[in-house]
Amino acid sequence: MTTFTNVLYQVESETGILTLTVNRPDKLNALNAATIQEIRAAVEQAQQDPAVRGIILTGSGEKSFVAGADIAELTQLDEAAARRAAEQGQQAFRLIEESRKPVIAAVNGFALGGGCELAMACHLRIAADNARFGQPEVNLGLLPGYGGTQRLTQLIGKGKAIELLLTADMIKAEEALRLGLVNHVVPQAELLSFTRQLLQRILTKAPIAVGLCLDAVNAYFDKDRDGYQAEAESFGRCFTSADFREGTSAFLEKRTAAFTGK
Ligand code: COA
Repeated sequence: MTTFTNVLYQVESETGILTLTVNRPDKLNALNAATIQEIRAAVEQAQQDPAVRGIILTGSGEKSFVAGADIAELTQLDEAAARRAAEQGQQAFRLIEESRKPVIAAVNGFALGGGCELAMACHLRIAADNARFGQPEVNLGLLPGYGGTQRLTQLIGKGKAIELLLTADMIKAEEALRLGLVNHVVPQAELLSFTRQLLQRILTKAPIAVGLCLDAVNAYFDKDRDGYQAEAESFGRCFTSADFREGTSAFLEKRTAAFTGK
């Protein structure tokens, strides 16, 4: 098990919930390159870790989820290094998106730039009522580099995405909810308990089927895949699982299914 410097990796053994906390509170959890590498390594570790069934991604403290890429570090990059940094960020965030274990962002404050991009790479987003979202990169002479132009467009549509990207406007949690950028808004004090309850509800379902739902939805956005074909193949795959037999038997026997993930 790797230990991390900028990320806390805490697994709750009863539930199988991993809470990954970006932990640079004095910099509002801004993502320097080391933190992005640690997020990537932590997500890879979580995929291999049988004790982990689902992931909550959040930021340290009560003010910020992640306030973006580390601007001080960005100033040190040249064109080639910046392009590599964007590719590395994109790869790390794609791992989150492609996780077969559900990942929920618990957005506890500022989710700006790379922070908004990180939240968007998660499967679901719960916002505390003090959360603020935005892609302020054009204020810095930049555009988002970690997939923001793509995922914002996927989540809220072209017109609204372009407006947020071009104005750099910071929006409140309720507006993010209205736009479909987040799934729920809750009082800050209830953020983690609400997120945990939602994840626990998902973790009572058949894990293979949950993972295949995520994969089929991702296939819709992958130009190299046919989403309908992916769905049909996965539908067939479920019929080879013990959990399909358990889920259908439990229904017919009027009892709660006990899934094993097999
Ligand atoms: N990169 C590097 N450092 C950051 C940061 C970032 N993205 N966001 C915040 N910080 C640092 C500040 O420099 C400050 O550090 P210091 O105490 O050593 O000076 C510390 O975090 C606290 O931030 P501060 O700006 O003092 O807090 P605030 O409450 O006044 O403002 C924000 C909060 C989020 C509005 C403001 O920090 C901000 O605009 N951050 C940048 C957001 C951004 O443009 N992100 C996209 C990056 S591509």
